[in-house]
Amino acid sequence: MTVRIGIIGAGIMGTDHARTLQRSVSGATVTAVADPVQDRARAVAVETGARCFSSAEELIASPFVDAVLIASHDSAHAEQVIGCLEHRKPVLCEKPLAPTVRECQDLVDRQNAITGGIPLISVGFMRRFHPGYRELKARLEEGVVGQALMVLSSHRNVTTSPGGDSASTITNSGIHEIDITAWLLNSAIESVSWHAPRTTALDSSRQDPQVLHLRTADGVLTSVDVFLNARYGYDVRCEVVGETGTVELARPHLTTTSRGLTESRSYAADWRPVFADAYRLQSQAWIDALISGTRPPLATAEDALAATRVAQALVASMNSGGATITINHPQPTVEGSSAGGKLERTPTHVR
Ligand SMILES: NC(=O)c1ccc[n+]([C@@H]2O[C@H](COP(=O)([O-])OP(=O)(O)OC[C@H]3O[C@@H](n4cnc5c(N)ncnc54)[C@H](O)[C@@H]3O)[C@@H](O)[C@H]2O)c1
Repeated sequence: MTVRIGIIGAGIMGTDHARTLQRSVSGATVTAVADPVQDRARAVAVETGARCFSSAEELIASPFVDAVLIASHDSAHAEQVIGCLEHRKPVLCEKPLAPTVRECQDLVDRQNAITGGIPLISVGFMRRFHPGYRELKARLEEGVVGQALMVLSSHRNVTTSPGGDSASTITNSGIHEIDITAWLLNSAIESVSWHAPRTTALDSSRQDPQVLHLRTADGVLTSVDVFLNARYGYDVRCEVVGETGTVELARPHLTTTSRGLTESRSYAADWRPVFADAYRLQSQAWIDALISGTRPPLATAEDALAATRVAQALVASMNSGGATITINHPQPTVEGSSAGGKLERTPTHVR
């Protein structure tokens, strides 16, 4: 059986997902692409043999599309996910599910009303599939460093794309750190505070870097710097300090060069080579679940709602000059979701 995928948004991520699905994921074929910039849609369509659609709505409704991958602008996600729910089509939506808590809550409620809780929505928090993060989580669960006490993380990009601001640093980039921290520690984030060092002179559109403090229900404190104009390379770091030692993600260097009595390491320019395995494994897990009619082991709409709630609290902290904000998670977000990493395969009828 082959799942026919429609891709909405043929920019950096849509193109990357389309190539991965077409070349490296078994059981999937890309049959449709839509993007308001027709040349982009056409380029992906030519490469994959898919049809071009002039609108997302038309693509979602097409009988040639079994499931949809959304890689459009963050602001378009909610409306397009609603379209997929109305057509009862499984959807893998890039993060964030939607920029606001109100929109994410609406999507969770609509999914419950339409499917009775059967998850049609999966969300692209792909770090959960990165072999490094998975091994780090396994080491922690084995107890090799005793109980986790604190986490020190970094999220550094070379430069920002135009159009963002200080809040979108949190809602678009920092949200990866929010999701992966709760998932790694198997504990919901209960309070946050936002901090700003001196800002770089190289970007006047936002405070950069920012330091986010996240306290999970288990009492672990995470400090993460999000620095989007770090210039030197794409760099993601994560060290968990436990009672008897530390476990750290291996640094994402592509090569190490030794010459002239010096050793030097190269960085990727962006996230794609660093997380290529994670995108592939996430897509394969999604397709496998659709084919077998089981619950996709990806981040759920509820996980995405929890992450957006934390991001919104960080924006509130930022706007108040760094106050500590407590987050009210109304539902058991860890046990009731996949944030705990339980990849159970509950039978569902998603198709
Ligand atoms: N998981 C990750 O690691 C990761 C990394 C980067 C970006 N993202 C997310 O992926 C999504 C796409 O990011 P990108 O870097 O590819 O951006 P991009 O700007 O390169 O591509 C977005 C594309 O969506 C199209 N688009 C805009 N509005 C649309 C609409 N209403 N309908 C259909 N297409 C529309 C644009 O024309 C553009 O081609 C964003 O939501 C972003 O947050 C995720």
